[in-house]
Amino acid sequence: MRKGFAVLVIGVVVMAIVASGCIGGGGGSQTSTSPTPTSTKLQGKIVFAVGGAPNEIEYWKTVISTFEKEHPGVTVQLERQSTDTGQRRLELVNALRAKSSTPDVFLMDVAWLGQFIASGWLQPLDPYVQKDHYDLSVFFQSVLNLADKQNGKLWALPVYIDAGLLYYRKDLLKKYGYSKPPETWEQLVQMAQKIQQGERKSNPNFWGFVWQGKQYEGLVCDFVEYVYSNGGELGYFKNGKWVPTLNKPANVQALQFMVDLIHKYKISPPSTYTDMTEEPVRIMFQQGNAAFERNWPYAWALHNANNSPVRGKVGIAPLPHFPGHKSAATLGGWHIGINRYSKHKELAWAFIKFVESYQEQKNFAIHLGWNPGRTDVYNDPDVLKAAPYLKSLRAVFENAVPRPVVPYYPQLSQIIQKYVNAALAGDMSPQEALNKAQSEAEALVKQYS
Ligand code: GLC
Repeated sequence: MRKGFAVLVIGVVVMAIVASGCIGGGGGSQTSTSPTPTSTKLQGKIVFAVGGAPNEIEYWKTVISTFEKEHPGVTVQLERQSTDTGQRRLELVNALRAKSSTPDVFLMDVAWLGQFIASGWLQPLDPYVQKDHYDLSVFFQSVLNLADKQNGKLWALPVYIDAGLLYYRKDLLKKYGYSKPPETWEQLVQMAQKIQQGERKSNPNFWGFVWQGKQYEGLVCDFVEYVYSNGGELGYFKNGKWVPTLNKPANVQALQFMVDLIHKYKISPPSTYTDMTEEPVRIMFQQGNAAFERNWPYAWALHNANNSPVRGKVGIAPLPHFPGHKSAATLGGWHIGINRYSKHKELAWAFIKFVESYQEQKNFAIHLGWNPGRTDVYNDPDVLKAAPYLKSLRAVFENAVPRPVVPYYPQLSQIIQKYVNAALAGDMSPQEALNKAQSEAEALVKQYS
């Protein structure tokens, strides 16, 4: 039984990097920054599928045009996907089930990478890595081992790594007499209630705390954070098999607290369970209508953009925890891989190398606030200036909790989403919701054993 299997993934690697001071280019970055001798001869067109927030899609266009300049014979067509990870997965699944040769290359959520690998939809990258003597040591080894390397092969590479964070309004905390962000969930409730009460006098649309509660993958990420910061867990591995423990008392308590945020403390809007995904949450906070926000690192760059009403007023901290337990952040992030049925795998590989190059990874951190998938850019002064939390919140990323890496994760997630959301909507009690989720999860696991 590996109770804490989740809480170690990123840590080891980040600590190793920091301890060894091995950041800052060196031999590792050379391999992937300089074009391979053959790359100038590459000819043809590839389709690259990617989604995300609107600014992210815009940024990908500049990545593509820089790549095309470096590879004059190659055109990359951007196939725009939605923002929602579930939709993005379905779009790809439809193409891959039909053995379509496009998109040639695409980003995958760490949450569903296991399914893509198990389904045989990805081209192993090992032959390309070997041919180019491509240096894999620059990537987070714990992430590679958790997600990208399975059955002895390499299937994808991490583009960026996500972890849930607490954003707060520094100016409002000060205004209401608080010198630092909350450390426990209880403190967050007290602070949010006080600030909300005060701010409502001039702004009826103001809320204490906004987070992702709609029925979708992001809700599972938020749920994981409450559960693990209360000493609970979704399940554990025993003899290689995943055993669900969804209705553990600590999980039920955690879910009750999520329900209470909306219905009892009334610091989170009822729209939490109908509408709240990352972007509506970010926008509400950014418009000045919330004191606290749970979101991924990408929100940082947008909150501090020139046109942001909260620019310069935002602090960032680890998510709170329940008394006697530790903060937990869900491990997210996106990985790039090649369609097994692609007719242009060489071109797709050239594009992957470009996306993973030191310069592009650095640009992602600076322009989009992403945590790069390769480690050697983390001590770059430009990166640290743009995303100071990469250093100050190192522990958050070190302790990030992965969702179960099992081929049936998408179905498991749907079960969790459905019942956690039903509890948030008040349709069933947390206990009943998690009992039902547990029995459906047990049946699902049985199908796969
Ligand atoms: C972010 C994370 C991803 C997660 C998703 C949920 O994109 O990187 O891992 O599944 O949010 O909405």
